Amino acid sequence: MSQPLQGERILLGVCGGIAAYKAAELVRRLREAGAQVQVVMTAAAGHFVGAATFQALSGRPVRDSLWDANAEAAMGHIELARWATRVVVAPASADAIARIAHGHADDLLATLCLVATAPLAIVPAMNHRMWLHPATQANVATLKSRGALAIGPDVGAQACGEFGPGRMCEPDAIVAALVAAHAVAGGDPLAGQRVLVSAGPTYEDLDPVRYLGNRSSGKMGFAIAAAAAELGAQVTLVAGPVHLPTPAGVHRIDVRSARQMHAAVLGALPQDIYIGAAAVADFMPARVAEHKIKKPTVSSDSGLTVELVRTPDILAEVAAHPQRPLRVVGFAAETAALADSARDKLRRKRVDAIAANRVGVTGSGFDADDNALDVYWRQTDGSETMAALGPTSKAVLARELLQLLLDRVPAAPTQDTP
Ligand code: PMT
Repeated sequence: MSQPLQGERILLGVCGGIAAYKAAELVRRLREAGAQVQVVMTAAAGHFVGAATFQALSGRPVRDSLWDANAEAAMGHIELARWATRVVVAPASADAIARIAHGHADDLLATLCLVATAPLAIVPAMNHRMWLHPATQANVATLKSRGALAIGPDVGAQACGEFGPGRMCEPDAIVAALVAAHAVAGGDPLAGQRVLVSAGPTYEDLDPVRYLGNRSSGKMGFAIAAAAAELGAQVTLVAGPVHLPTPAGVHRIDVRSARQMHAAVLGALPQDIYIGAAAVADFMPARVAEHKIKKPTVSSDSGLTVELVRTPDILAEVAAHPQRPLRVVGFAAETAALADSARDKLRRKRVDAIAANRVGVTGSGFDADDNALDVYWRQTDGSETMAALGPTSKAVLARELLQLLLDRVPAAPTQDTP
């Protein structure tokens, strides 16, 4: 299932107010949407909800003081502010809004709001007269003028028995507003980019009924194609013989043999990114028998010798092609010496990155739903580096691989595209 707030690290400020109880549900919803959540409570919030509730729901100790030496030693408040990709204050009391608008730094939450460069969202919750007071309205306007997002408040019956604007929005509505903000801020990182992915095995026919194949299910490559499409790319997926549905928005070309995959991949150039996740056969029979190969009739012991010849190396050809994509990424499937083989492929095939996975073990590699990748690439100064992704589901791994490519793997120098 895709998680719309994947990658967000939300610093959630909880202020004093009866609506603080809704913040507990908000933490749960934010985490379900894929965000990491660090709760920061003001002193007043502690009168309404206990820190243990937030700690259990967020999976992180709650922060509530500038003067907590242990917490500061683990992650100082400046570091905490840097960690956040978004600061959300929910419920945001009139007092908190005023102090944030005026740049106070007399408690942890206000200080974090002052230090953080991450976008701020406030979710006001207060009595309707406090909300409508010109001071509050001016403070909210000040924050909005600096780019803050104000979510709500809702109009309705209030805890004080009065009716009007000031109720904190429901957690679902807050998450929806944050998802929309996340999409706008992040844009689609692969929008306008063409991504070509190969997936699955190849079958090399011996005769009309037999072939040489391998155990690839196509799951890894299909997950990459799906993730690239979700990130806005125009995706072409060249698929060997597999039994998987085509991911939404992906253009699929079905092939059977290495030679067909070679023709389909090279025929799909130019592209911006090529990711070769297919398990392409290295050898194919030199000849395909026109009829089913018969068992020898004379001697039952005599075996059968099949002459094999090399298949085209699709990855190396794409990397050497005049229309070379800006990023060419290969996979390495190994049962041993993963690092050496990956580094060797990185150099020999002249690709920008190699995602190495261990195969032949249960729970990862061929046909498994999960996998782990050691990704090797060359930095701009020519030195080689590695990042370990997973173990996790192939869907999550695909997103992490694409993010790594976008954030850390330098693109090859631009080629002239005839
Ligand atoms: O499909 P799944 O069941 O989900 O399993 C995923 C996987 C294990 C198949 C996948 O993660 C993987 O490792 N794919 C590459 C398998 C492979 O063929 O590795 P290799 O080390 O033999 O090849 C290295 C690279 O060269 C690969 O990018 C391969 O696509 C490419 N190659 C190989 C031979 C060839 N003739 N042409 C190629 O382009």
